Formats: sequence, structure tokens, C-alpha cells
Amino acid sequence: MNKFPPLEIPKVEFAREFPFSDSDFERIRKLIYREAGISLNPSKKDMVYGRLVRRIRELKLTGFAAYVDFLESAGGKREFEQFVNALTTNLTFFFREEHHFPILSEHLKHKAASSNELTIWCAASSTGEEPYSLAITALEAFGGAARPNISVLATDLDTSVLETGRQGIYPADKVSKLPHGYANKYFDKQSDGSFQAKPILRNMITFQRLNLVESPWQVRRQFDAIFCRNVMIYFDRDTQFAILKRFAPLLKDDGLLFVGHSENFYFASDYFHLRGKTVYEHTKK
Ligand SMILES: C[S@@+](CC[C@H](N)C(=O)[O-])C[C@H]1O[C@@H](n2cnc3c(N)ncnc32)[C@H](O)[C@@H]1O
Repeated sequence: MNKFPPLEIPKVEFAREFPFSDSDFERIRKLIYREAGISLNPSKKDMVYGRLVRRIRELKLTGFAAYVDFLESAGGKREFEQFVNALTTNLTFFFREEHHFPILSEHLKHKAASSNELTIWCAASSTGEEPYSLAITALEAFGGAARPNISVLATDLDTSVLETGRQGIYPADKVSKLPHGYANKYFDKQSDGSFQAKPILRNMITFQRLNLVESPWQVRRQFDAIFCRNVMIYFDRDTQFAILKRFAPLLKDDGLLFVGHSENFYFASDYFHLRGKTVYEHTKK
């Protein structure tokens, strides 16, 4: 027999500057799902409070109920951008999930044998470290040899991270972690100690806002590779499936789809199947 009674852990409610009821959270959950496809479970309530409280202060509102009322009013349309930017999670770093980059390099070399135009889509580019890592990999793949034209389309829903990507300026501690002397080769040191990506990289990348759950996508070409990493985890399965179905015609027949380490799309096997660790290719019909 168990000698100890079960522990009762008291639920602690922290004193908050603004009221934030479960029904306020529910309204926010519905709005961010509708706008960005992001599924928030109840455990994210504190995170949502922390991310949005600044907006409420800045707008001088009385609390979360007033904030959602404002978002839903005709005057709140412009606030939606701030709302979505605040709720996206933008964690990223250079050469994240590094096993993908040698695979991309080999793939580009193979494709260059038959094409002089290579294209990569980075579909949740955040602050730009991922598309810059792709551009560096593409340049390194061809060394000093004549290389094909390589372009990277970098898209994200969050307008503030896109702006960081466009500028390509990063603090020294981020750039110094780049492997193989890439920091000096591909970045210029600024007078304030930060580093800016050299024009050769910046000119390869186009940053553009694109919401993966909106239609239509302003994408008019097919890609040799699509990187869509660490964003699908925020979506439910129906949303993931709908996006994968839309990726299929945008990836060339022998193209590769790279996904995040915790993303698994076995349920979309009509469109893509696993070729190696978190790398997918078309399912042939
Ligand atoms: C965790 S970051 C991942 C960044 C990068 N792909 C990586 O793996 O390092 C997720 C990114 O997805 C973006 N995102 C979230 N919902 C999106 C949507 N509906 N459409 C496009 N991007 C979205 C966020 O703004 C954020 O920058």
C-alpha cells in the first residue's frame, strides 16, 4: 500500500498587471489560428500574456478583452500585423540542423549538370539566418568554378523578422559561430561591431511576406529545393496537409523538401515520402 497520499500541487495564479480571462485567451486562440494557422494549446496562456502585454500598454488599453475588441473593430485592422508578429516564435540560427546542408550541396551540384538556374525557397525564413546559410552553401558548392545562377526566395509571415533578414545585420556572437571561416568570407564588420552579409549573399536572396495559410501564394516558379523547417509544428495536421499539398506542384520533379527535426509528414505520403532524415521527395504517381 502506498504510505504517502498523492501530492496536491496548488494552482498558483500570478498577480497580473492586466486581467486575462480564459475567455480572452480563447478569443486570441481563435484569431491567431484564423490569421496564421498557429494552434495554441491552453499551456501557452502565460506565453501569450507575456507576448501581448506590451501591445496593451502601448495602446493604453484596460486589458486583454479590450485588446481583442480593438482587434475585431474596424480601427484595429492595422494592429493585426503587430498581433501576429508578437505571437510568432522566431528562434533560428545559422546552419541549424546542419546535416541538411551537405545534402543540399550535393543536390545543387547534381542539378547544375542539367540547369543553369537553381532556385531554393525558404518558406519560414525568420530573421534570415536560414536563407543566408542556404546561400553560403550554394556558393560553396561550386567553389571558384563557374556556377549557375542561384536564387533564394525567403518568406515569412512576420514583417519585422523579414526586415532584419533584408538588412542582413547580425550581432558578432551569432556570426562568430559560423563554421569554416565563413564569418570573414561572407560578412563585413560594421563600425558598431555587428556584421553585415556581403552583397554577393544579399543579392541572391529575395525577402517577401508570405502567409502559408493564406491563398493564393505569390509564388510563380518551381523550386529545386524547399526548406520549410520548424514552422509546421505550430500548425494542426489538417493545416500541415493543406500546405504540403500546395508545395507539391511548386517543387520540381526531382526536388527536395527539407523539414524540421520534430516534423513528420507520413500522413501526406500521397505527395511526399521520406528520402532520408527529415528530407522528403515527391511520391511518384
Ligand atoms: C521557429 S521559426 C523557424 C525559422 C527557421 N525556419 C529555422 O528553422 O530556423 C518559425 C517561423 O515561422 C514563421 N511563421 C509562423 N506562422 C507562419 C505562417 N502562417 N506563414 C509563414 N510563416 C509563418 C514565424 O514568423 C517564424 O519566423
